[in-house]
Amino acid sequence: MSGVVVLKTAEAVERTVASWRSRGHSISLVPTMGALHEGHLSLVSIARKRSKRVIVSIFVNPAQFGPDEDFSEYPRTFEEDREKLSRAGAHAIFLPDEHMIYPMGFSTSVLVSGLTESLCGRFRPGHFNGVTTVCAVLFGIVRPDIAVFGRKDAQQLTVIRRMVRDLHMRVQVVSGPVVREPDGLAMSSRNRYLRTEERRQSTALYRGLCKAAELVSDGERNADRIVGRAMEIIDSSPLVMVQYIELVDPFSLKPLLRMKRKGLLAVAASVGETRLIDNIMLGPEGAIEEE
Ligand code: PAF
Repeated sequence: MSGVVVLKTAEAVERTVASWRSRGHSISLVPTMGALHEGHLSLVSIARKRSKRVIVSIFVNPAQFGPDEDFSEYPRTFEEDREKLSRAGAHAIFLPDEHMIYPMGFSTSVLVSGLTESLCGRFRPGHFNGVTTVCAVLFGIVRPDIAVFGRKDAQQLTVIRRMVRDLHMRVQVVSGPVVREPDGLAMSSRNRYLRTEERRQSTALYRGLCKAAELVSDGERNADRIVGRAMEIIDSSPLVMVQYIELVDPFSLKPLLRMKRKGLLAVAASVGETRLIDNIMLGPEGAIEEE
């Protein structure tokens, strides 16, 4: 028997949260689209350390998929997810349906401009709009003290932090590190789409990022040379088609000409039919890990 309670409506979430609150419990939300892997479970573990109660939302959000994207094929693995969350010690799963999140007449959209047009925004118009809108709805229903997001979606994290700041949302955004397979590929629900040879070549992304970090630790500061070196590594894997690779300021997401105190090196590529993203945070000594 699974020890995690499944809540399907806003009212059920509100009742549960109110009863936790009445006992003085702090609450974390981990928003997900399901198809959970170790990366998600590491966010649950962070949430457990930071608060008394953890609620994980599972909702494949149609508003963040483009018309040619994988919304209908996106893996839906609820029974496995529930088992994993139960073992990971989550207390509740919020499993709304589309109508619950976007009832008839829903007409609000949250747009964070300036941060959403570059990087993935160039290739996925409207995507971040869908992400911020659904997160605003989820925050409104759950009213968590803390919301936990992975740093693999670095642009998403920056955008959500800006939304929370701008709209004075009373939630603290906490981030968790990129969790990788033993060969370096960043964990993603979409990795399961990769065919054998695609999966093998996908490791080029992280190898490219690591090479760039090495260059920075050797003193290179010129963005073109840093990016160029990463690109050379990735290009040697012909199935990995880079959409963008850019060194940007981690707060403004604007391109850097030279590495300063900090730079986010972000990459997106299509590998066969699958779109993958990855990134590495760079400091003067090379790769850095930070919240
Ligand atoms: O990162 C994701 O899985 C999604 O973008 C999120 C934050 C759950 C919003 O749908």
